[in-house]
Amino acid sequence: MRSQTLMPSPAAPPEAAAITGPRHVAIIMDGNGRWARSRGLPRVAGHRAGAEAVRRAITAARAAGVRWLTLYAFSSENWRRPATEISDLTGLLRHYLRHEVAELAKGGVRLVIIGDRARFGADLQAELATAEQRTAHNTDFTLVMALSYGARHEIVAAARIAAARVAAGTLAPDDITEEVFASLLATAGMPDPDLILRTSGEHRLSNFLLWQAAYAEFVFLDVLWPDFAETHFVAALAEYARRDRRFGARPE
Ligand code: FPP
Repeated sequence: MRSQTLMPSPAAPPEAAAITGPRHVAIIMDGNGRWARSRGLPRVAGHRAGAEAVRRAITAARAAGVRWLTLYAFSSENWRRPATEISDLTGLLRHYLRHEVAELAKGGVRLVIIGDRARFGADLQAELATAEQRTAHNTDFTLVMALSYGARHEIVAAARIAAARVAAGTLAPDDITEEVFASLLATAGMPDPDLILRTSGEHRLSNFLLWQAAYAEFVFLDVLWPDFAETHFVAALAEYARRDRRFGARPE
């Protein structure tokens, strides 16, 4: 895993246009709280501004020809936050779904949710299911929202399914290949992320896509998520284009 902290310049680097870009970009959106604190605002103001940055990220990804965008919007560890903040975040999500889904559906975006959605209230679960159904016909661009998501939980859940099949006699232990195991994860059928971005200067994966990140490139951006702009996305893609991805093979 190689990483580099980028200080993006305001203008897109000239080589960006010529990039053969990543198919799947995943983003750990971090820094909402610090953004709010630095302005003397409540944390919810940072999350609200973060929701605006989500729109910019989708626009930037589509403009760059990315086909899959995964956003870490709520981790399984986020349930440990104060009840008021959880309620602010779920309220924002509900608002986002109500106001954006028609646009996503019309604009060619398919929304897919991964994570333990059963922990959300029945109303939000229903909104999530409706949003997925209303956008399911789109194939050009998939927006994956990781909600109440934790990679260790996802891997343990997949191991339980495999174990149950072995116990039932429908799966032989030797038939549990990497492909079979991947098909039991929440991301079954999705390409692995080529590029994982994290904002706010932190260099951690925080229980995000642990299995799927096996060969991902990492770019860490020194920008707080609410300030994320298309130029940061373009700068990250330019950095990705400079990487030499060998997937463990020996250099020529
Ligand atoms: C990390 O910032 C961000 C989150 C915990 C949640 C991400 C949520 C959004 C971007 C807004 C809602 C999204 C949608 C799709 C409506 P932090 O609070 O951990 O920041 P800090 O590390 O500076 O405290």
